[in-house]
Amino acid sequence: MSTKWALRKFVAPEFLFGEGAIDLAGQYARNLGGKKVLLVTDPGVRASGWAGHVLDSLKQAEIPCVIFEGVTENPKTSEVRAGARLYESAGCNLIVAVGGGSPMDCAKAIGIVASHERDIEEFEGVDMVEFPIPPLICIPTTAGSSADVSQFAIIADTNRRTKMAIVSKAVVPDAALIDPRTLTTLAPYQIACTGMDALTHAIEAYVSTAHSPITDLHALEAIRLITANLPGAVASPASIDYQGAMMLASLEAGLAFSNAILGAVHAMAHSMGGYLDLPHGECNAILLTGVVAFNYPACPERYDRITEAMGLSLTGLDSQAKADRLVRTIASLRDTVGISPTVGRLGVKKTDLPRLAEFAMQDACMATNPMLMSKQEIEAIYEEVL
Ligand SMILES: [Fe+2]
Repeated sequence: MSTKWALRKFVAPEFLFGEGAIDLAGQYARNLGGKKVLLVTDPGVRASGWAGHVLDSLKQAEIPCVIFEGVTENPKTSEVRAGARLYESAGCNLIVAVGGGSPMDCAKAIGIVASHERDIEEFEGVDMVEFPIPPLICIPTTAGSSADVSQFAIIADTNRRTKMAIVSKAVVPDAALIDPRTLTTLAPYQIACTGMDALTHAIEAYVSTAHSPITDLHALEAIRLITANLPGAVASPASIDYQGAMMLASLEAGLAFSNAILGAVHAMAHSMGGYLDLPHGECNAILLTGVVAFNYPACPERYDRITEAMGLSLTGLDSQAKADRLVRTIASLRDTVGISPTVGRLGVKKTDLPRLAEFAMQDACMATNPMLMSKQEIEAIYEEVL
């Protein structure tokens, strides 16, 4: 059988993109049959005022709401349990998440626990969710995680000190309300890290062994948009033009990776981020160049198209020079947006590496990496960024 026309499916929620999308939360909640809403958010998003927009919109629609804001940067199993208890005790029947990847992933996991009445740890892996979750509306306030359109929920398992990837069509929200205005209140470093996360999504989806012509289209456009707009977005957070382009890029990258899945950068970032409670986008930004250099021989022509989408010419270069150009271009973008290339300052030590490599090998994202990786090879990539 040819691999060119391999069987692929493409799943995406209904999404509304543009200025003012957030103010339609109440209308969407009503249309989805909401009687009482659990609003999942975090203290930073509340302080930014965007959770308040959602509360006002729900109030206008006359839908009562309880707020769960006990979500930290890497949402944890204990936070999921607490949110699910509140959903149950308050008699909710719909979940609205407003925030970055953390509140949205936590909301998805709360939905799984609420509909199954089992521990969230039982759903790790691909297609482990048996029943539909309650209606879910996601409102992203970062241009990175794309949890608002994805089949992914990433939860930190505090007992094992790693992150679980839960991949299921059941966690695709019923609606995503994507409002680029929400990015204009972010700090520059947050824009940088989430933007590099989105770039990693697009690159990993494009070279994934599960890519398709449809995911390719979205991945390449995301790469083009991020290269052209991330430095401007970091330098001018208040610019709706830059933030709109980054929000669109994040959406495109999300549509791509949700369906094509990811690769070794995410597997390694999940392992590292879960062990040491580190920011996800920053981990990806640091690990991306090492994995690209390692993976390049597996599909050089696909990596070359990524380089071209970043606006560079490869004419007259041999294979090694082409690989170097891509790695240098990614490193330069990472430097321009102010992310350090090493993890030592984050507290990662050489003695941690065997354990980190072990968990990375078991992560669901490793299955679609274009190159097989041994534990020693993973450790070597971690070691380069110490
Ligand atoms: Fe990510």
